[in-house]
Amino acid sequence: MITWDERYAPAAYFYGTEPNDFLREQATAIPSGGTVVCLGEGEGRNAVYLAGLGYDVLALDQSAVGLEKAGRLAAAKGVQIQSLVANLDGYRLDAARWDGIVSIWCHLPSAIRSSIHRQVVLGLKPGGVFLLEAYTPRQIPNGTGGPKDVDLLPTLAELRRDLAGLEVLVGTEIDRVVQEGTGHNGLSAVVQMVARRPT
Ligand SMILES: C[S@@+](CC[C@H](N)C(=O)[O-])C[C@H]1O[C@@H](n2cnc3c(N)ncnc32)[C@H](O)[C@@H]1O
Repeated sequence: MITWDERYAPAAYFYGTEPNDFLREQATAIPSGGTVVCLGEGEGRNAVYLAGLGYDVLALDQSAVGLEKAGRLAAAKGVQIQSLVANLDGYRLDAARWDGIVSIWCHLPSAIRSSIHRQVVLGLKPGGVFLLEAYTPRQIPNGTGGPKDVDLLPTLAELRRDLAGLEVLVGTEIDRVVQEGTGHNGLSAVVQMVARRPT
């Protein structure tokens, strides 16, 4: 199976250089000018977009190749981001450090996902916002992007359970057309969430 480093090795950006649509719609729910960590950030398109809005952004991913490209994209767009090569398996977020935590297509095995989402609840500052878009199990037959392993795909019910303690501002499962580079193309079954840590 191809690794993420191998997938990101070509010069082209696999998911393009424009931010994810749901992030673009919802980003300003994150407190203005705050600290944001983007989990599984890959080649940096979302982190760079948030930096352009004035956030102080850390892009975290296991792929050093992806994060090198993220740094180049930031330089090309004239913004600064921090990056961290790290594995989310067993990862601990600093408590109450983040105004925003972003997870776009960060598909993890269910046990790791649950553990990280409990970390998300603790890692947000009071008033901080978690923003997620992921494919759901209904996406598998579509073949328009995302993993084929159902264990990597969350449902809204599961997210609500793992993120208990956050106030859900947006929580929906919908079908929408996703066009992102060559990686995601076509009608897709997704779950979207914006959730805030109560003050
Ligand atoms: C589908 S890509 C999404 C990239 C980016 N969020 C975007 O929207 O362009 C999933 C990313 O999650 C990262 N990832 C998967 N498992 C991970 C893990 N255990 N720890 C850190 N990153 C991981 C991969 O390296 C990959 O960059």
